[in-house]
Amino acid sequence: MSGGARRDRVLVVDFGAQYAQLIARRVREAHVYSEIVPRDITADEVRAMAPIGIVLSGGPASVYAEGAYHLDPAILGLGIPVLGICYGHQAIAHALDGVVSRTDRAEFGKTGLDVRRPSALFDGMPDRQTVWMSHRDTVTGAPEGFRVTASTPDSPVAAMEDPERRICGVQFHPEVAHTPLGQEVLKRFLYDVCGARPTWTNASIIEESVAAVRTAVGGERAICGLSGGVDSGVAAALVHKAIGDQLTCVFIDHGLLRSGEAEQVEETFRANFHVDLIHVKAADRFLDALAGVEEPEEKRKIIGETFIRVFEEVAAGLSDAGFLVQGTLYPDVIESGTRDAAKIKSHHNVGGLPEDMAFELVEPLRDLFKDEVRAVGEELGLPEDLVWRQPFPGPGLAVRIIGEVTRERLDLLRAADAIILEEIRRAGLYREIWQAFGVLPAIRSVGVQGDERTYAHPLIVRAVTSEDAMTADWARLPYEVLERISNRVINEIPGINRVAYDISSKPPSTIEWE
Ligand code: XMP
Repeated sequence: MSGGARRDRVLVVDFGAQYAQLIARRVREAHVYSEIVPRDITADEVRAMAPIGIVLSGGPASVYAEGAYHLDPAILGLGIPVLGICYGHQAIAHALDGVVSRTDRAEFGKTGLDVRRPSALFDGMPDRQTVWMSHRDTVTGAPEGFRVTASTPDSPVAAMEDPERRICGVQFHPEVAHTPLGQEVLKRFLYDVCGARPTWTNASIIEESVAAVRTAVGGERAICGLSGGVDSGVAAALVHKAIGDQLTCVFIDHGLLRSGEAEQVEETFRANFHVDLIHVKAADRFLDALAGVEEPEEKRKIIGETFIRVFEEVAAGLSDAGFLVQGTLYPDVIESGTRDAAKIKSHHNVGGLPEDMAFELVEPLRDLFKDEVRAVGEELGLPEDLVWRQPFPGPGLAVRIIGEVTRERLDLLRAADAIILEEIRRAGLYREIWQAFGVLPAIRSVGVQGDERTYAHPLIVRAVTSEDAMTADWARLPYEVLERISNRVINEIPGINRVAYDISSKPPSTIEWE
C-alpha cells in the first residue's frame, strides 16, 4: 500500500543502505514523506514518481572506484531540486564536470564549517558550525553555475548550490546527531528549496492508512495474528479502525509468554478496542510437543510448526476471510532480497504467515519506520507497555530455558523475568536498553539460605544495547540495579539461589541464548 497522491514525496537515492535509511527517517521527522530508491534509478523512473525533491545519500565508495555507481546525469536535468550528501555531493560534482580530487587524507569526525552567503541551505544560521565528516575524496572545483557556500580546512567545496537549477551538495552529514544543525539544513532544503509542505504527520499517516485498508479489503473479512508486540498490535489497531468488525484477531497463547502478556492482549484488544478476538489457549499443546526436547533448533522447529498448525485450524473456521494482516515494516521492505546473512538461528515470527495459505496480504505498516509505528500506536491509544515493548522472540521463553521446557521451569523464569523488567523500569532504563531478560540454564549449584543448604538453579541476567539486533553490546547496568535484581530474585523465588550477569557482546555471542 503506497501513499496517496496528496502527500509531498522526497526520494532518497541509496548509495549506502545505512546512510539512506537515516536520511529517509530525518526527512520524515521534518514531516515530509520520503522513500528510498535504488541507486541505478533512471531519470524516467524518477519523473514517473513525481517527487518534489531528491536526496542523494552518502556511501562508502569513491566516484573513481571500479564499478562505482554513477548517477544518471539526466536526473539533474529534470528540474526537480536535488541535495547531494557526502558521496552524493561528489556524484553531483562528477556528473556536472566539477572536480573531485582523490586525497590521501581522510577527513573524519567533527570539523568546523565556515559558511558563505548567500545560501539557501544555511540561511539564518551561524557563520561557523560544527559538522560531522567522513570522507576521503573531496570536491575541489564546483561545476559551472554553482557557488561555493561553505568550506572546511580539508574541503574547499564543503557545500555548494546552484540556485537556478536548485541543486545543492554538502560534504558533511546533516543526518547524524554529531552535526547539531544538520536537521535545520535538511529542513531548509525541504521547505525553502523544494517548497515542501509538512504533510507527513501521525494523523495523516493514520488517515491515509485507514482509507487504503478500506479500499483494499472492501466488504470482506480480514484476520490478524497478534503476538503482544508493537508491530502486530499497531497493525491490528489500524485495520480495526478501518474495517471494524470485519477484522478478527487471533492470539495464539503458546504458554511461552512473559508474565501478564496474555492478559494485556485481552484487555487492550477485547476490552478497550472491542476487537473480535480469538484467544487460543494452546499451552498444553506446545508443551506436550516440547516434552523431552533439549536441542535449540529442534525446539524452535517444533514451536514454529505447531504455531502454523494451530493458526491453520483457526483460519479454517474463518473460511470467509480473504485477507491476512501483517505487521511488515519499511526496513523489511527495503532489505528484503538484499540481505543474505548466514542463518544463525531459524527465526519464527508469532503472528507470521503460513506460507501456503491463500490470503491476500494487508500490510498497513509497510511504509513506516519503527519509530513511526510507535508514534502511530500512541496516537491510536494503545497502552505504553505495548507500544514501547522491547523485542521478544517468537518462540518466547523457550529459547531462554536451556534444555527441556517444562511448566515448572517456565514458572521460575517468568517470575524472575518479571522482577528484572520491574527493576529496569524502576531505574528508568527500559527504553534505552534494547532487551533485558533472564535465562535459566540447565544446571544447579549449592548455596546457603537461612542456615540451610540449597541446591538450586542460577539465573542469568542478560541486558543489551543495540540499534538493530544485528550487533549488540552488554548494557553497563548500574551495580545498584544489578544488586536489587539479585536480591529480589534470590529472596522472592524459591528455586533460584544465584544470579549471574552475562557480559558478552554480539558477535561473537547472540542476544538470546538459544
Ligand atoms: P539473536 O539471539 O539472534 O537475536 O542475537 C536477535 C534478535 O532477534 C530476536 N529473536 C527472534 N525474534 N523470532 C523473532 O521474532 C525468533 O525466532 C527470534 N529469535 C531471536 C531476539 O530477541 C533479538 O532481538
